[in-house]
Amino acid sequence: MSVRVAVGSWLAMKILRWLLKGRSSAPTPTPTPAPDAAPRQLEHFSKFSPSPLSMKQFLDFGTRNGCEKTSFIFLRQELPVRLSNIMKEINILPDNLLGTPSVQTVQSWYVQSLTDILEFLDKSPDNYRVLSDFSDALINIRNRHNDVVPTMAQGVIEYKETFGVDPIINQNVQYFLDRFYLSRISIRMLINQHTLVFDGRSNPAHPKHIGGIDPNCDVIEVVKDACESAKVLCDQYYLTSPEVLINQFNGKTRGQPIQIVYVPSHLYHMLFELFKNAMRATVENNESSTTLPPIKVMVALGNEDLTIKISDRGGGVPLRKIDRLFSYMYSTAPKPVVQNLQTAPLAGFGYGLPISRLYAKYFQGDLNLYSMEGHGTDAVIYLKALSTDSVERLPVFNKSAWKHYKSRNEADDWCIPSSEPKNLAKFNNHI
Ligand SMILES: Nc1ncnc2c1ncn2[C@@H]1O[C@H](COP(=O)(O)OP(=O)(O)O)[C@@H](O)[C@H]1O
Ligand SMILES: [Mg+2]
Repeated sequence: MSVRVAVGSWLAMKILRWLLKGRSSAPTPTPTPAPDAAPRQLEHFSKFSPSPLSMKQFLDFGTRNGCEKTSFIFLRQELPVRLSNIMKEINILPDNLLGTPSVQTVQSWYVQSLTDILEFLDKSPDNYRVLSDFSDALINIRNRHNDVVPTMAQGVIEYKETFGVDPIINQNVQYFLDRFYLSRISIRMLINQHTLVFDGRSNPAHPKHIGGIDPNCDVIEVVKDACESAKVLCDQYYLTSPEVLINQFNGKTRGQPIQIVYVPSHLYHMLFELFKNAMRATVENNESSTTLPPIKVMVALGNEDLTIKISDRGGGVPLRKIDRLFSYMYSTAPKPVVQNLQTAPLAGFGYGLPISRLYAKYFQGDLNLYSMEGHGTDAVIYLKALSTDSVERLPVFNKSAWKHYKSRNEADDWCIPSSEPKNLAKFNNHI
């Protein structure tokens, strides 16, 4: 049983939203046979907590114990759980944001994708056709969700244009989008692993990779790749680019190359964003000098952490503004002008840092900026050195998540500094 949604139809969207909110007297959308199927299943699956996988489990699955049937059985349960958990959070977004056409579109993609997977709940894993249909469905879902980030960003812009920004809505949106994009990264990871490992039509980037994971990811190689790509863009925009000096220290096995079990495309994404930022700041802050100060990279491996520090002398950012650089709502960068499809923008719509931090957090790492205003910035990526510590970090929809959205209208528990000092003289007169 399934709900078929005419994507893009305004009326269908209205009905959908209404159904998802669980109102009892919903009109029956025609010609759908069972209009309440998706919401009912949504309630059911959202009661389960997502099951985080470790890098080691991803690897084991793709090698020794890898079996397409087992993966199919796992994913037809786990994907609806992850989708439903985050759909519950979409449903409790403030009406003014949920109601924007862009957020409605994203919501319809989620409903459609959940519906697509539910089709496989009662299908037999022993049927070869079922497995290949499942693979097709996953690829379809991945394609459908390709534009989720810019579409959501558009929704935030639509909201901002009408209602402006205040600290409470900013906190809410930040909390939601961090969880929403992290959930999306995890869902795409599951889909990619299944299709790359089991679907003969998709090939991993390298024969030794297990799906998207490189069991011996050479960190310096990825640093060099990301640096080269950023340099190409920087040269295109500014006709110059700073030199990049790379150092490494393997504190675990001296003198050996630094390798970890990781998803090279995720690491590349973070590094590329950080290099673009560092190069842009370096060039723009040193316009009058004849030589550009180099960007310095330090890669260190310890027993617990793999740390990458990118240091630039691009003038830095005051501490007051650092949080805002990671904010989806306060992002002020102008929208990139797409000149032609070959030229990617050097700076985008201000999502480079927050999304990169999510990639780091996804496997229990982090990404921070330490800046010295007037001088430059250190951007630091922390990753787990051990594959047993690299476990997916996943949002779960429960009472405490719900409270985050509902209890934010209370007064702040820190004083707001007033612009004028309080005049205490009148009190002194009485002493
Ligand atoms: N290394 C840096 N030095 C100075 N400013 C930086 C640096 N990194 C980031 N920023 C500031 O943070 C903003 C947000 O960065 P980012 O999230 O990558 O979005 P975008 O590059 O698309 O603007 C940048 O526009 C820039 O003003
Ligand atoms: Mg950037």
